[in-house]
Amino acid sequence: MSARIGESGRVEKGKGLDVGTAFIYSAERERGKIVYHRQRDAFFDIEQGDFTKRMLDKVSVNYVQKDETLYVIGDEAIEFANIFNKEYRRPLACGVISPREKEALPMIELIIQSLIGAPRLKGEIVYYSVPGAPLDAGFDVVYHEKVIKGILERAGYAAKPINEAMAIVFSELGGENFTGLAISFGAGMVNVCLSFMSVPIITFSLSKGGDWIDQQAAVAVGETASRVCAIKENEFELSASDQTTSIKKALSIYYDNLIDYVLARIKKEMERSDKMPRLKKPITLIVAGGTSLPKGFVERFSKQLWKLRFPIAIGEIRPASHPLQSVVRGALIAAITDGEKEVERGKKAVEFIEQAKEVGKIPIAV
Ligand SMILES: Nc1ncnc2c1ncn2[C@@H]1O[C@H](COP(=O)(O)OP(=O)(O)OP(=O)(O)O)[C@@H](O)[C@H]1O
Ligand SMILES: [Mg+2]
Repeated sequence: MSARIGESGRVEKGKGLDVGTAFIYSAERERGKIVYHRQRDAFFDIEQGDFTKRMLDKVSVNYVQKDETLYVIGDEAIEFANIFNKEYRRPLACGVISPREKEALPMIELIIQSLIGAPRLKGEIVYYSVPGAPLDAGFDVVYHEKVIKGILERAGYAAKPINEAMAIVFSELGGENFTGLAISFGAGMVNVCLSFMSVPIITFSLSKGGDWIDQQAAVAVGETASRVCAIKENEFELSASDQTTSIKKALSIYYDNLIDYVLARIKKEMERSDKMPRLKKPITLIVAGGTSLPKGFVERFSKQLWKLRFPIAIGEIRPASHPLQSVVRGALIAAITDGEKEVERGKKAVEFIEQAKEVGKIPIAV
């Protein structure tokens, strides 16, 4: 396989991968720009028949055959589920490979392979996102982390994990010397990282997110989770004036509940940590992830935060510059700056900061 060369004539090596419960993103540099690819973390099974197979081939649908079943993967799985009026399936649940889904492993492998492609040079580095250890669930992330590593290594990459919220720090907090608090509100989880000068001080995850909001609100008002989710994504705002239907009221209540829950756990973890840095000035807080997208989210979040007394002062609260891509962007920055092992720790951190700032200036092409 020949390496792709950028305009500068250098190989623009290193890729980022964000393995999320709802979406998988990859990012790579190409001709001085960051190029993102996105795929739904979903699949749909169809009984095999000669006609079906020929049709799928004809319209170039991404599918794989296993025994007597055809599996359509990615965005097309959603379309098929809608046509057949059935639920699509997901290989991940609550941020990790789903223990309830027996086809999870081959499906996640296929989705990742179709998204990230082959390495551009032998052993190209890819940083892939991994959730923090969950504080509120009876599982760890070890199995998930190793399975994704195996998939990437089989595809020919040198794969390295990066904490999901730490990736947001790399992506968004270059201007603050990688010091601050990053929170990713995703589909299956909320991930938190408090970073000081690019060193993670506290990292953890909570196994609630957008899926949980959809399910709770759906049960409360007797609707399906997919209908609630569609309203949430397309016409919901977290402003008092937008609570016009029972579904929107329920969504607002569960958003409040999630935000309260997350803030209380952050406060508790900070209070019991013996690694908390003494900082001279308030730190910046970044919110990212699909669940942070509704208009009014930052205002609602800030209002609830100011009611609490945190062990460290919080200054600016700002949404990520790319709320859906900041994790993969941070993973790419980590891949590009993946550095010299022999350089002593402090020096390496400073070098890293300088390099990452440079990277942050690259224009973004989506
Ligand atoms: N405009 C929107 N308003 C509200 N929620 C949204 C919007 N767009 C997407 N979402 C929700 O965001 C979630 C997906 O976000 P994201 O892509 O950050 O999650 P993920 O990375 O796949 O999951 P996780 O990090 O938990 O593993 C879903 O719950 C989706 O319903
Ligand atoms: Mg995520």
